[in-house]
Amino acid sequence: MGSLNNAAAGKKFARRNERLKASTDISISGALDIIRSNLNVKDERPTIPLGHGDPSPFACFRTTHVADDALNNAVISAKFNSYAPVGGILPARRSVAEYLSRDLPYTLSAEDVFLTSGCRQAIEVIISVLSYPGANILIPKPGYPHYDACASAKNIEIRHFDLLPDKGWEIDFEAVEALSDENTVAIVVINPGNPCGNVYTYEQLKKVAETAKRLGIPVIADEVYGHLTFGGNPFVPMGVFGSIVPVFTLGSISKRWLVPGWRLGWLVMTDPKGFLKEAEIPSSIKQFLNMSNNPASIIQAAVPHILENTKEDFFENTISLLRQALDICAEEIKEIACITLLYKPQGSMFVMVKLNTLLLDDITDDLDFCIKLAKEESVIILPGIVLGLKNWLRITFSIDLPSLEDALGRIKSFCNRHAEPQNLKLDKRRTNEGYLPGINLQSLELHEAIEFE
Ligand SMILES: Cc1ncc(COP(=O)(O)O)c(C=O)c1O
Repeated sequence: MGSLNNAAAGKKFARRNERLKASTDISISGALDIIRSNLNVKDERPTIPLGHGDPSPFACFRTTHVADDALNNAVISAKFNSYAPVGGILPARRSVAEYLSRDLPYTLSAEDVFLTSGCRQAIEVIISVLSYPGANILIPKPGYPHYDACASAKNIEIRHFDLLPDKGWEIDFEAVEALSDENTVAIVVINPGNPCGNVYTYEQLKKVAETAKRLGIPVIADEVYGHLTFGGNPFVPMGVFGSIVPVFTLGSISKRWLVPGWRLGWLVMTDPKGFLKEAEIPSSIKQFLNMSNNPASIIQAAVPHILENTKEDFFENTISLLRQALDICAEEIKEIACITLLYKPQGSMFVMVKLNTLLLDDITDDLDFCIKLAKEESVIILPGIVLGLKNWLRITFSIDLPSLEDALGRIKSFCNRHAEPQNLKLDKRRTNEGYLPGINLQSLELHEAIEFE
């Protein structure tokens, strides 16, 4: 009776959650869907996916047989067909604790580890656990939009601090200090970086820890690309600074083991001084996970074998492939006048390049570039706007080398075809310069604006 009365009163039975719409508007997959919908079905060439970080479809990026065997054995044993306890089965939690402790000055225990469905769920969990009405969170720009999506869905205010392109994507520490207040709940640091491929030094991470300590906030250290480094800076886990400031370390087997579809991640408290325990954060994480989902029990069962027995040569092979792919990318980009690589990545799977639309005839911005590129060349790349930087592009280089070369060749012909004729002279000069470490972006833009007046 009640519902009939309501309907009669003009109530519409259902109303969408507008927050969810705002969240998907800023997702990588949402943007890629739009770009893919512009592909030309008549193009017989293969579509080359440089838009997201999933190398697993390419034979050269096949996971190790150690992982395959571990999973097969877990299935065949028939011991892992039941529900797993909240937070994960003990041997898997213990093995993640041991795996991460190898690089830390202290030892983590199984109680510090919560298994999640990929690193994405770890992000959702920690943001939910830290949220309260009026809270805000410090998130890097450019960054990984899932943080923004989760914060927005939880009604946490997002405060972006810049990563500085002319300083190797270093954190703008002044902005961090200025943005923070008594309702700031955490600072997010992604290292190795997505989308910029930067790898922070020990000193830079120590500065993060000291800044966070001064502000009285924990660090959320997204280390999903942990150990995927191929430049001068080695990977240093943020947990090393756990005695300065409590750290939530987020990770997964998705990237290092090249199995993002297996959906096994972790949320780990690196907090030797026990601040998080004192604040009852572990029970809060459990409470959230009680309402949520576990990674599949058979994957959890495979984890100890995977983490303990994967051979160094598997990791070295991945690093060597990524390094070769990056070198190809950097060389080819030098030949493309309208995009500039300001910083050669040292880790992860992506390069961020600056797009100069002034050198193009009929391309209005990065999104327009990506849509037309998909339509004309069947190559998918991600517009920087999705990551917080308009007129930048994120190119994934973790694909097989012939496809990468093919894709970069197609991008080059696309850019040549759309080149603004009057700017060809500048084209050439930029081509010769290649990527320009340490260049000041603002002066580059100013310089170009003057050239065209
Ligand atoms: C920075 C960052 N964090 C988290 C994730 C999600 O990782 P997972 O696939 O393990 O959920 C990704 C995926 O691309 C990422 O780039």
